[in-house]
Amino acid sequence: MPSSAPASLSPDATPPLAVSPRQRRVLRHMLCLHDFERVARQRLPRPIFGYIAGAAEDNLSLRDNRSVFDEYAFTTRVLGDVSARTQAVELFGERYSSPFGIAPMGINALSTYRGDLVLARAAQRAGIASVMSGTSLIPMEEVARESPTTWFQAYIPGDQARIDALLDRVARAGFRTLVVTVDIPISANRENNIRSGFSTPLRPSLRLAWDGLVRPRWLISTFARTLLCHGMPHFENSFATRGAPIVSSSVLRDFSARDHLNWDHLRAIRQRWKGPLVIKGILSVEDALQAQRMGADAVVLSNHGGRQLDGAASAMRVLEAVVAAVGPSYPVLIDGGFRRGSDVLKAIALGARMVLVGRPFNYAAAVAGEAGVTHAIGLLRDEIDRNMAMLGVTSCAALGAHQLMRRHG
Ligand code: FNR
Repeated sequence: MPSSAPASLSPDATPPLAVSPRQRRVLRHMLCLHDFERVARQRLPRPIFGYIAGAAEDNLSLRDNRSVFDEYAFTTRVLGDVSARTQAVELFGERYSSPFGIAPMGINALSTYRGDLVLARAAQRAGIASVMSGTSLIPMEEVARESPTTWFQAYIPGDQARIDALLDRVARAGFRTLVVTVDIPISANRENNIRSGFSTPLRPSLRLAWDGLVRPRWLISTFARTLLCHGMPHFENSFATRGAPIVSSSVLRDFSARDHLNWDHLRAIRQRWKGPLVIKGILSVEDALQAQRMGADAVVLSNHGGRQLDGAASAMRVLEAVVAAVGPSYPVLIDGGFRRGSDVLKAIALGARMVLVGRPFNYAAAVAGEAGVTHAIGLLRDEIDRNMAMLGVTSCAALGAHQLMRRHG
């Protein structure tokens, strides 16, 4: 397994990572982030895998999120003594050991047992950032207690009283950094979910039962274990109080009524939230400037992994213009399709402070729990380290757009 760099955020009390012989065997074959998808597809019931892998409509944005990286080529510098390299970055007064973190992903406790805890623990152990989704099935208080460096991501509930109550709960739980996702005014057209048998609420059906039965390892070690130890999963963190069970029809009501939200709601959140505030789901210079003006501490450029507006540009396409507008000292984060160290370095060269990675870490958790996520972090970290050496740089700050050429146009 690739070694982990020293983790400034990893507390001394972190217990050693347990890796079973079976996990060791499977992880030997995981040589890059892409590899986890194939095994996760075999391990997870079709609807669950489909929910993670899927995007919206014709997957235009999903594909753009990958193909955009081919449009950039590196130029390298040689013989510059790159023996003292570090990929650590500073953000909100913290030092993160790598310029990538784990993106928020809903219901990942269905991918692996206690998924949110698994991802948060692995991130904390490695000293990288990790964002817990508000659409999660484990109470936020448990995650904050175990992995206090985790950030919390909220979808804004429809009215101010519920927004305030949620923010107070997040603060009480001990989270320092709040991410507010703003690119879901309404639910997207995820027809792929219907095709793969996934629905919200999750509707018990013969097909779902069959999909579970033919994945006995998932059925026993994730689903049955969750039911036995914790009961039917609920959406725990959408509001100040516990939400509906995943099989309840009131789930839909809880997720609706966000299309009236506006910047005034964000201003009110800024006033109430004392810690770092990050706005996720920005894809235009104007909105980035608006977020900066109203006091957000950072933005995440994102098309939500291609899961919202199909045809929305890859965030990479707006990165340079946004960084030029908000200025080099304002933290711009980005996500969507990052799978290789070279992808991460292209974004850093264009001015991003940090990259978030979604699906691969979800798959890694499904494949081998915390050991899988730790392995995935190590793979990406090693790719970044090697590529920095070959690029001729010793720090992320030393990277610049002068090291990239556009292949087309
Ligand atoms: C997401 N994403 C997401 N974003 C968010 O702000 N809150 C959420 O609850 C979720 N849920 C979610 C579930 C799943 C299964 C996926 C794949 C994604 C979007 C996520 O944070 C991120 O923007 C993308 O996943 C990044 O793209 P990649 O790395 O998956 O290509």
